[in-house]
Amino acid sequence: MQSSEQSESRRQLLKWLAASPLLAFPGLAGLAAQTPARAPQKLPDPMLWAPADLQDLITKPGDAINVFDFEPVARRNVPPAHFGYMASGIDDEVTLRANREGFLKFQLRPRRLVDVSKVDMSVDILGARYATPIVVAPIGGHRAYHEGGEAAVARAARAGNHLMILSTQSTTSPEDVMAARGGPIWYQLYATNKWEVTRAFLARAERAGCPVVAVTVDRNGGRNQETLFRLQRTDTRTCSACHDRSSLTATYDGRPMYEGVDLSGLSNIQSSAMTWDTIKRIRDTTRMKVVLKGILAHEDAELAVKAGVDAIVVSNHGARSEDSGRATIDALPEIVEQVRGRMPVLVDSGFRRGTDIAKALCLGATAVCVGRPYYLGPGRVRPARRRAGARPVAHGAPRHHAAGWRAVDQTPRAGHGAPGLTAWTEETRKDAICRADWGFSSPSYWWP
Ligand code: GLV
Repeated sequence: MQSSEQSESRRQLLKWLAASPLLAFPGLAGLAAQTPARAPQKLPDPMLWAPADLQDLITKPGDAINVFDFEPVARRNVPPAHFGYMASGIDDEVTLRANREGFLKFQLRPRRLVDVSKVDMSVDILGARYATPIVVAPIGGHRAYHEGGEAAVARAARAGNHLMILSTQSTTSPEDVMAARGGPIWYQLYATNKWEVTRAFLARAERAGCPVVAVTVDRNGGRNQETLFRLQRTDTRTCSACHDRSSLTATYDGRPMYEGVDLSGLSNIQSSAMTWDTIKRIRDTTRMKVVLKGILAHEDAELAVKAGVDAIVVSNHGARSEDSGRATIDALPEIVEQVRGRMPVLVDSGFRRGTDIAKALCLGATAVCVGRPYYLGPGRVRPARRRAGARPVAHGAPRHHAAGWRAVDQTPRAGHGAPGLTAWTEETRKDAICRADWGFSSPSYWWP
């Protein structure tokens, strides 16, 4: 490549990065401006006529054009450490980017002249019918983002009849979340390495009425969340005012799932000792159906079928477990092929647009779980005072959760119409997608 072209490409890359909703790094804009432009200039093709302007924040949920519009607002209004917790991936965040870029490897193959004015998005998941295949993924600590917490999210899930999966790290009790959802929710389990703790969590969830436990199988070690660590350093609040880290018991004091649970002997809540025997033990202990969350290889999908597991979630934990570099949309086909319809296959990590969801469904997913976007939706759209030492008090009402949620929810209809399908039948959906035959290469202005 000519050096002038390289320079222009670099400038365009920096401009693109600065405008990207995925990268809230305003400094890039200045860097792009400083990069000398040399003739002859090559304009990007296609031109970005209306790139997102990170300075021009939406002021009310209804103004959001897409879910990415919530992200810079949350970055501005949510305390840096809390935003960092939500946004962080692992190490170089290769997986975080791969989760988004993976969708580029697949193309929809639309069929025309099909009446898509009425579509049926409903789906059966383990015996319950939901209006859409979009599931509220389990993420912990909702109250750090909105005072309405998990109950507010549950009300939004109720409005759209979405399946909701409640995290062990919930800041609201499963009983209250269930009441707000107005129906059964699934429970996500961090089993830890202590069976008594596992058993206590299972008993609580079962008593609360959860019909399904989704066992997280991908958190078995510590993690290097550099985005979180860097943003933590910029947070001027005194974290210890809210977070007592003097012991594991103190850390989880006040988290409803941990009430009355003896954590002695544990130094963390990860499940480094978990094996297929643990899964059998869980199955033998609870009446809840058992789902494994975090499966990424077809060999494990087969073992899950053989272990009598009821469903799996293809998940890399939103790129928060290990920096494998592999997107879940890439892992999905080998797993669907292996499972051959013997159990539902859900998927999560990086889903932001209706077409992302449509692609996963075309590839054979039963449903798609969405997480971070509904952290971004809650309140916080109105520019907030950010004071040193201020508690993360949210504005407004739970409807903001619904707004963040709706922005995800609306798109599938368009995405659904896009492949020309009226329902997700086995016969039609596999023809509605193909692997990009040009392999994966980004537009030239992405990579200089
Ligand atoms: C919780 O699931 C986390 O990744 O922090």
